[in-house]
Amino acid sequence: MSTKNKKSQTVFVTGGAGFIGSNLIETLLKRKNVDRVVCVDNLDPFYDPAFKRENIKPFLKNEKFKFYKTDIRNFSALEKIFIKEVPTHVVHIAAKANARLSVKDPEEYETVNIHGTLNLLELSKDQKVKKFIFTSSSSVYGNSAKSPFSELSSTDFPLAPYGSSKKAGEVLAHTYAHNFKLPVVCLRLFNAYGERQRPDLVIYKWVENILKGKPIEMSGTGKRARDFTYVGDIVHAIELALSSKGSYEIFNIGNSKPVTLKKLLSLVEKALDKKAIAKSRPSHHASVESTFANTNKAKKVLGWEQQVSLEEGIMKFVKWLRENRFKNIK
Ligand SMILES: NC(=O)c1ccc[n+]([C@@H]2O[C@H](COP(=O)([O-])OP(=O)(O)OC[C@H]3O[C@@H](n4cnc5c(N)ncnc54)[C@H](O)[C@@H]3O)[C@@H](O)[C@H]2O)c1
Repeated sequence: MSTKNKKSQTVFVTGGAGFIGSNLIETLLKRKNVDRVVCVDNLDPFYDPAFKRENIKPFLKNEKFKFYKTDIRNFSALEKIFIKEVPTHVVHIAAKANARLSVKDPEEYETVNIHGTLNLLELSKDQKVKKFIFTSSSSVYGNSAKSPFSELSSTDFPLAPYGSSKKAGEVLAHTYAHNFKLPVVCLRLFNAYGERQRPDLVIYKWVENILKGKPIEMSGTGKRARDFTYVGDIVHAIELALSSKGSYEIFNIGNSKPVTLKKLLSLVEKALDKKAIAKSRPSHHASVESTFANTNKAKKVLGWEQQVSLEEGIMKFVKWLRENRFKNIK
């Protein structure tokens, strides 16, 4: 019989060396009700794995933390970890996460994002985990949903294989909730930004180029709008979802205040106190016109609300980039 306190949690975080995952782990390790945080990540080379090693480095000293360099497509390796660690909660964050690149490499996105998710659902079902959180994406809405997007808006027409793989993950998770009573929460995240952000994402790339005096790329005329959401607010939503009730729920997690890319650039310039040299490039046809979250359901059911405004979040993020990733750029 397990000697674990009934209320103590062993949280299994996939993709925990990445941007959102490492922010979540940093918070979970501070929680008294969390006994252990198990991180599985294959340090995928889609962006420099050195960043991922750096993300988890401070956690390695913590005795509550355990890291496994493992691919979520490898069922038998995952099974061994599940048997050894006995997770009570799973936060499934690992994914290939770039909509535009998914158009070029749909098979890789399908195997990681769908087959990998299936492996985790299967093991979580066998382990009878108390909550399975799946990080989905606003990409499921494509261009067809009416703004602001509600959880009931159409998700039948994502524009990129990435969005369709996230939709497939949600639907698979539903079948596990239905057939095996696995309690599932899918969080549709909207344009995350903040400390440890992926270097392929817009704010990061702009800050780097502006600091280096290089031109930045602006998609089209800068009119496309995005609902940028601070990573700390996303971590808070995951924590609330971990302790929520219910058998299967989907929540939008977004700032609910979309801004055009032009407006975003003005905020970045203000935070850096430096003007950008902007060059327009054609907008990618797999990238949506706009994202805009209706978060009424998250507010009502989870008690979640966005806390950090875009202005404040950009200031924090730019400060972090200057002190960490770009400390050598004068
Ligand atoms: N960043 C955003 O704006 C955003 C928006 C919506 C949804 N999401 C979702 O949030 C999650 C995290 O995104 P992120 O921005 O932190 O990305 P990230 O790339 O920084 O993190 C994903 C992590 O998953 C790991 N990974 C990839 N393939 C793997 C595999 N086969 N086995 C094990 N680990 C693997 C990567 O090494 C990486 O550390 C993803 O599921 C993404 O789809 C992100």
